[in-house]
Amino acid sequence: MPRSPHDPAVFTRGLCKSFSSRRKISELIRHPFTKGRKIVALQGVDLEVRQGEIFGLLGPNGAGKTTLLKILSSLVLPDAGEARVNGCDIMQDEMGVRRAIGYVTSDERSFYWRLSGRQNLIFFARLFHVPAAIISERVDSLLRRVELQAKGNEPFSAFSSGMKQRLAIARALLHDPPILFLDEPTRSLDPVTARHIREFIRDKLAGEGGKTILMATHNLHEAAGLCHRMAILNRGQVRRVGRLDEFRALFAAHRTYRIDLDRQVNLEGVGRLVSDNADGEENGAPRDTADSHRVRLLVELDQDSDGALSALMARLATSGARVLEFTRQEPSLEDIFDRLFSEGSTP
Ligand SMILES: Nc1ncnc2c1ncn2[C@@H]1O[C@H](COP(=O)(O)OP(=O)(O)OP(=O)(O)O)[C@@H](O)[C@H]1O
Ligand SMILES: [Mg+2]
Repeated sequence: MPRSPHDPAVFTRGLCKSFSSRRKISELIRHPFTKGRKIVALQGVDLEVRQGEIFGLLGPNGAGKTTLLKILSSLVLPDAGEARVNGCDIMQDEMGVRRAIGYVTSDERSFYWRLSGRQNLIFFARLFHVPAAIISERVDSLLRRVELQAKGNEPFSAFSSGMKQRLAIARALLHDPPILFLDEPTRSLDPVTARHIREFIRDKLAGEGGKTILMATHNLHEAAGLCHRMAILNRGQVRRVGRLDEFRALFAAHRTYRIDLDRQVNLEGVGRLVSDNADGEENGAPRDTADSHRVRLLVELDQDSDGALSALMARLATSGARVLEFTRQEPSLEDIFDRLFSEGSTP
């Protein structure tokens, strides 16, 4: 248990993990004593998740998110470094860690498809050593909590993806842990179901339940809407930790303007042309419609350089071109994360 409310719920220092690449059987037969290629999954991960916060792990495929969650769940041993979960050392107090966490993967193969949702929960409750006398009551209350009470007796195989995910969350709550690890909780769910799951995480799990949540996600809007803070992981390293508004502030040094003109104008010397924008529009590309011909320019100015905007206006005014539209373009979430993900991604 953490000694005070200020102790982190999750703490890691210098966590490292490498795997040997999976080899084909044919290769194993031909070269039985040769080791596979080394794949570095985590290299020196330092992280602190506060009690009661929803913390996001973001990063491209293969960044190491799942490996980190598995190490913190004491399912995989790290090669080096230390970690504590709810104050329990992951190497020395495996049972303490398991009692403190519920782990929800997006892999539903771990359920028994022929058993009902309820029977599945009862089975896992026994496995998690929930006292026999309270299993039935606990399972019913969790089924109600994830709104599956009406479907609890149907076989798992008949559940929709959203129901399976809710049952996986109920399973993770069986032993009432203070911390939940969610690995891509809304993967493969339709947008409406995904929104319900997100609201459930925010309002019921974190809000009413007071759980600490560490979640890996690819969904930037999900992270933006749910997470108090997030870590950007790339190539097994934490590149940045912070709130979304802090990440947005990284862009504050520049402003991008979108200008539609009736002809091409040379803006050299007054601003930088941005190659294309988030919608994939190419800079300077003509945008012809039935009744107009326009050229769209995306221009980036340094916010703190005096007179940059006036110089741009003056150039436009003397160019002879007609300005059809002039708008300031806010960086999209995708822009922000693109930039964050690409930081340090070159080998
Ligand atoms: N059991 C394993 N054997 C070999 N390599 C592995 C194993 N588990 C993970 N890896 C490798 O470790 C790296 C990190 O993988 P991990 O699954 O942690 O990434 P991730 O961030 O969860 O990616 P994704 O977004 O695709 O889920 C990858 O290169 C992956 O191929
Ligand atoms: Mg993963």
